Amino acid sequence: MVVLVTGGAGYIGSHTVVELLNAGHEVLIVDDLSNAKAEVVDRIETITGKRPRFCQADCADKTAMEQIFAANQVDAVIHFAALKAVGESVKKPLSYYRNNLDSAMTMLEVMEEFGCKKFVFSSSATVYGPNNPYPYKEEMKAIESSSPYGWTKVMIERILTDYCTAHPDFCAILLRYFNPIGAHESGLLGDDPNGIPNNLMPYIGRVAAGKLEKLTIFGGDYDTPDGTCQRDYLHVVDLAVGHLKALEFAAGFTGVEAINLGTGSGISVLELVTAFEKANSMKLPYVIGPRRDGDLPAFWADASKAKELLGWEATHTVEDMCRSAWNFAKKSS
Ligand code: NAD
Ligand code: WQD
Repeated sequence: MVVLVTGGAGYIGSHTVVELLNAGHEVLIVDDLSNAKAEVVDRIETITGKRPRFCQADCADKTAMEQIFAANQVDAVIHFAALKAVGESVKKPLSYYRNNLDSAMTMLEVMEEFGCKKFVFSSSATVYGPNNPYPYKEEMKAIESSSPYGWTKVMIERILTDYCTAHPDFCAILLRYFNPIGAHESGLLGDDPNGIPNNLMPYIGRVAAGKLEKLTIFGGDYDTPDGTCQRDYLHVVDLAVGHLKALEFAAGFTGVEAINLGTGSGISVLELVTAFEKANSMKLPYVIGPRRDGDLPAFWADASKAKELLGWEATHTVEDMCRSAWNFAKKSS
């Protein structure tokens, strides 16, 4: 299958491209490198022995996308490309709505023009909003979020649902990721955000590498077993494999299907810190600070639908996640 992977040079995209190439698919990456480096393509080649085609372009650029589709027989699109920083989206809502909505709609328009009918979308647990009980199940209402970033996911899910109603032969799989962490075992691919990380694991990696002084745990007084927030952390390689399974499922499916990708259980910030220390035989300096605005105390996935429909479940342990994250962070520091 020829798979166009938008945002394929990014964190989750690059790991997914590795799995696609290893499974024998042909891959075409479209990435504008707004949050990735071109050398990721070399690293993917080093890992897999195969070089994916790469086009540096904005996938909201319709002419550029039409040229790509005209030159390649694309069978399916996995759409990772998006801006993803929750806090930044509150400060720059227009950039987020413009980039995330335009890129998704442009891909759909061009796919329609060229008769491509399989679309796998990077959605997020954020679409469950602040009011659903956990574990989150796909049949719950997923119609609100707490940031402009999150609203782009809610809106694109809606657009895809309406599009599938209008085009019954189209297939859209909405993959709702929980908290991906960890890195490829080679240490060549991982999560390496620009500037000071917002997300927990890249922040821990910088503290472990001595680039940041200490971790501040946001809130120690939540109504959870140890007072810190609980999340469903899953290994990015498991998440990447989930995309492969979604493509296989999409081959025989039409319509829209939302599927959680998580482990099905939550651990706390303190538990993750302790697991990181143990897995990597080190001590992490941390303090408990005030709560961060907008954080929910706890949530995790009901992961049974992914198992039932895709035959997918997470296989990596928290220790695997912590070891691989450090293996990447120390090499990239
Ligand atoms: P990332 O920033 O590492 O990857 C996104 C990639 O898309 C980057 O390489 C960036 O350069 C590219 N990009 C952005 N806008 C583009 C555009 N208009 N045209 C072409 N390329 C563009 O992020 P990631 O963590 O790999 O996330 C991938 C997807 O998964 C995103 O849609 C994100 O919202 C979603 N997601 C991520 C998480 C997470 O915790 N990382 C959780 C849930 C959902
Ligand atoms: C995890 C936990 C923090 C940093 C975000 C998005 C979500 C999804 C995944 C895209 C929380 C705590 C963090 C730090 C800390 N992305 N923390 N100190 O907030 O669960 O989810 O990324 O769709 O939409 O909101 O992930 O990694 O930021 O935080 O204590 O320096 O770690 O309070 O409990 P989050 P995170």
